[in-house]
Amino acid sequence: MTDPVSDRTDQSETSAASPELEWRDGDMPYSTAFGDHFYCQTDGRLECGHVFLAGNGLPERWRGRQNFLIGELGFGTGLNFCETWRQWRQLAVPGSQLHFMSFELYPMRAEEIDRALSHWPEIDSERRALAAAWPDNPQDVVSLQLDANTRLSVVCGPALEGVNRAAPGFDAWYLDGFAPSRNADMWSPELMQTLYGKTVPGGTFATYAAAGFVRRNLQAAGFAVERRKGFAGKREMLCGIKSA
Ligand SMILES: C[S@@+](CC[C@H](N)C(=O)[O-])C[C@H]1O[C@@H](n2cnc3c(N)ncnc32)[C@H](O)[C@@H]1O
Repeated sequence: MTDPVSDRTDQSETSAASPELEWRDGDMPYSTAFGDHFYCQTDGRLECGHVFLAGNGLPERWRGRQNFLIGELGFGTGLNFCETWRQWRQLAVPGSQLHFMSFELYPMRAEEIDRALSHWPEIDSERRALAAAWPDNPQDVVSLQLDANTRLSVVCGPALEGVNRAAPGFDAWYLDGFAPSRNADMWSPELMQTLYGKTVPGGTFATYAAAGFVRRNLQAAGFAVERRKGFAGKREMLCGIKSA
């Protein structure tokens, strides 16, 4: 492990930027471009519940809401989306709408998404639906109405450009752009300021990252930042709120 705040890293060499994937232990994707895993090796689905859902006060904040917009930096395999969708389905009331908008530079192929997510029987139906609807050649904005209450948009391209172009109104952010030491672009002051500007008053963010520069960038953008216990033995993670 090379990054004290993340078990996503290991001793692999970081190669020149390329979207190439390697598979470890059968179904664990690893990015050779960024020298990092897509989620924690302990259990990425449970990590999602601890870090991204609970860190944003979900599912509790969904109660009584007709519309809720989540932004994510880094769609990757869609694991966070599928776990969020699974939990949302249990609460969604007729007419309510969750919009999950993710920003991704290197969209995966459907068979790669399917291979990674097959690890979790708990999200079997979400995986099948996502893989079946996923386009062969994702570009621009992939927009999928996956059920009556759930819409997914994946904005292809650099996150800074995508977030800049997005309309404001985000209720919660999942900051999931690989370890900060491996991919500073996804944690830059400009990106944190831009996403803060698109967040509603009272909106929140959560991330497994705990690096000092990430915390400072989020604070400088305007978020009140809190440190919490990380997932699976990680000392800290960050979450925070834009004051109402
Ligand atoms: C840790 S993975 C995300 C895991 C994902 N949320 C999941 O559920 O599988 C980070 C993702 O960020 C993407 N990425 C890296 N740099 C980016 C950038 N500058 N803009 C947009 N996406 C980027 C990578 O291609 C990768 O898919």
